[in-house]
Amino acid sequence: MTLDASILKDMTLAEKIGQLTMVTAGYATTGPIVAGDVTGALREGRIGSLFNLWGRDAIRAAQRVAVEETRLGIPLFFGLDVIHGFRTIFPTPLAQAGAFDEDLWERAAASAAAEAADAGIDLTFTPMLDVARDPRWGRSVEGPGEDPLVGARFARAQVRGLQGDDFAGEGRLAACAKHFVAYGAVTAGRDYAPVDISRRTLEEVYLPPFRAAVEAGVATLMPAFTDLDGIPFTAHRAMITGRLREEWGFDGVVISDFGAIGELIRHGVAADLAEAAALALNAGVDIDMMAGAYEKGLPEALERGLVTVATLDAAVTRVLGLKERLGLFADPYRRCRGEGTEDAEGKGGRRRLAREAGRRALVLLKNEGGLLPLGEGARRIAVIGPLADAAVEMIGPWASDGKRAPAVSVLAGLREVFPRAEIVHAEGVPLTQDGTDGIAAAVDAARDADCVILCVGEAAEMSGEAASRTKIDLPGSQSALLDAVAATGKPLVVLLFSGRPLAVPEMFERAGAVIACGFPGSEAGHAIADVIIGREGPTGRLPTTWPRHVGQVPIFLAERSGGRPENPADKYTSKYLDMPNSPLFPFGAGLGYGEVVFADLKADVGEAIEASVTVANRGSRADEAVVFLFVRDPVASVARPVLELKDFRRVALAAGETRTIAFRLGREDLTFLDMRLEPVFEGGAFEILIGPSADRARLLSATVRFG
Ligand code: GLC
Repeated sequence: MTLDASILKDMTLAEKIGQLTMVTAGYATTGPIVAGDVTGALREGRIGSLFNLWGRDAIRAAQRVAVEETRLGIPLFFGLDVIHGFRTIFPTPLAQAGAFDEDLWERAAASAAAEAADAGIDLTFTPMLDVARDPRWGRSVEGPGEDPLVGARFARAQVRGLQGDDFAGEGRLAACAKHFVAYGAVTAGRDYAPVDISRRTLEEVYLPPFRAAVEAGVATLMPAFTDLDGIPFTAHRAMITGRLREEWGFDGVVISDFGAIGELIRHGVAADLAEAAALALNAGVDIDMMAGAYEKGLPEALERGLVTVATLDAAVTRVLGLKERLGLFADPYRRCRGEGTEDAEGKGGRRRLAREAGRRALVLLKNEGGLLPLGEGARRIAVIGPLADAAVEMIGPWASDGKRAPAVSVLAGLREVFPRAEIVHAEGVPLTQDGTDGIAAAVDAARDADCVILCVGEAAEMSGEAASRTKIDLPGSQSALLDAVAATGKPLVVLLFSGRPLAVPEMFERAGAVIACGFPGSEAGHAIADVIIGREGPTGRLPTTWPRHVGQVPIFLAERSGGRPENPADKYTSKYLDMPNSPLFPFGAGLGYGEVVFADLKADVGEAIEASVTVANRGSRADEAVVFLFVRDPVASVARPVLELKDFRRVALAAGETRTIAFRLGREDLTFLDMRLEPVFEGGAFEILIGPSADRARLLSATVRFG
């Protein structure tokens, strides 16, 4: 069948509303489930799309009901949260962001799309593009970190990887940029809480990644659960129809978040479902995910004149257009015929890529005396902690169908990569509960070993949706385990697993080496062992600033100076009584196994600012560096941040190699929003800063006059 534009004329009101209704099929739980007879509703044409269902048989069965048992036979599309892999799980997005590698982001997204498409999926609710600067918020783990430039590049790479040139193509998915917008700025880091930010912060920090996704051709978009200054995004006509569709030219479909339309009542902007449905439809929200608000509220809203048939028809037309672009009218069973086609080589290829991505997500934050790499000759290694033999935890939150595929634990990876070493294991303490009974055995294991690898951190479920924390430290009795093992005096390597920055300064004091692992995915154990033994060096860098204490939050690189910037010698300046303002680690922090030296910053001015720096690998092994380019505009009509990230480049260097890395900054790169929030370029002095992280002490800088 093909989409016939006249189909709209034939559709009843109930059938039109059915196309705007998305329901979960329950293979995964991603929100407050309401039981219901999905098949019956499908048969009556009351559902236009399903999510949380996968596998060709199950999808074929549902599609058959829609196509062969309904009056019009309009096909369904099938969505799923393929956030960082479908069955082969890649590092969580925040951990992937730490690779600062657009090519890797794209390849990982493409691999995940192909695996999910092979299981019959048409659309993924990815990329999540919420910039996050408050590690109390559990959903930091799902996004690209604290910086809008990184977020924008992450957006483009993921949309390209997921959709390719045609999201109906072989192995491709329609993508969904979410959660539009500024969800990461929730009050006190508490999920779903109200958001109050300035227009400037909205424009300069939170919108750029979504703009990039729209420019990359993202097929759909999901508004945030949250409000902005009292206007819930699910009802935000100015931002959805105004900014997104009219200003940015977005011509795709807007899908509400789980139950969000019905929640407009609790937000306090709708008295009943009819008002809620009208607000959302008039704002430009096409599909109602799981609220039942369009089905129950739109008929009454039409009767009460709260919404017009024209508005309804426009939304239905966009949804039918998406199905047409997905190829579903041409062939509704295009992705669910027969068996999956994935062969062993395909699976092997995905695991190899997951292992590479896992390695690149690892951020070495401390390595005293070159404790790492342990080298091939390591003899007795004690692998201790609740995350040492915890394969399922390694895939992190939002792992789709990942639990059904074997992930590699740290213990398994080390045993495979160190076949001649004697590796002993002791859990020590439970992952999240208090309990110190196992510490004595762990200490004994440590005492008998040449070195200890301590695996601690959060459980996967402690980050992601509905997982905000007031304390961002080690859960349960893990700190007691750390202290006891450190007291043995054995060389101590800590592997820290978390979905957010953790404020654990004591851990960094006690350990000889620390690797922040995020949640590295299915190949965690192999990726970590590759780095521990030294076959590969660590190359990750922090995509977020790491606080010393939760009391410093929010803490990020691009803060403005204020009139009394911190001066420890001056009481009346912006600081705390009990702790310096500086973070535990700055944005971009991360070590390699060698030594990379930045030097010879040059900055010339012509039509643009041309800056360059040399990057030399002084080590004896191949290494990589991420070169960050920041700018400071010391005097402007509006105060600018003390550092703004304007570019970053990943550089591979052979032993002894020196490269010159050049950057170009045009007027467009130095444009900002003036007092009226209009884009402006103001000539004058600009400080150019280039280096390995946002640590000012390690940045080379030059001031130029431009424009
Ligand atoms: C959830 C999440 C959203 C997800 C959706 C569907 O509540 O907020 O990110 O895509 O529901 O699972």
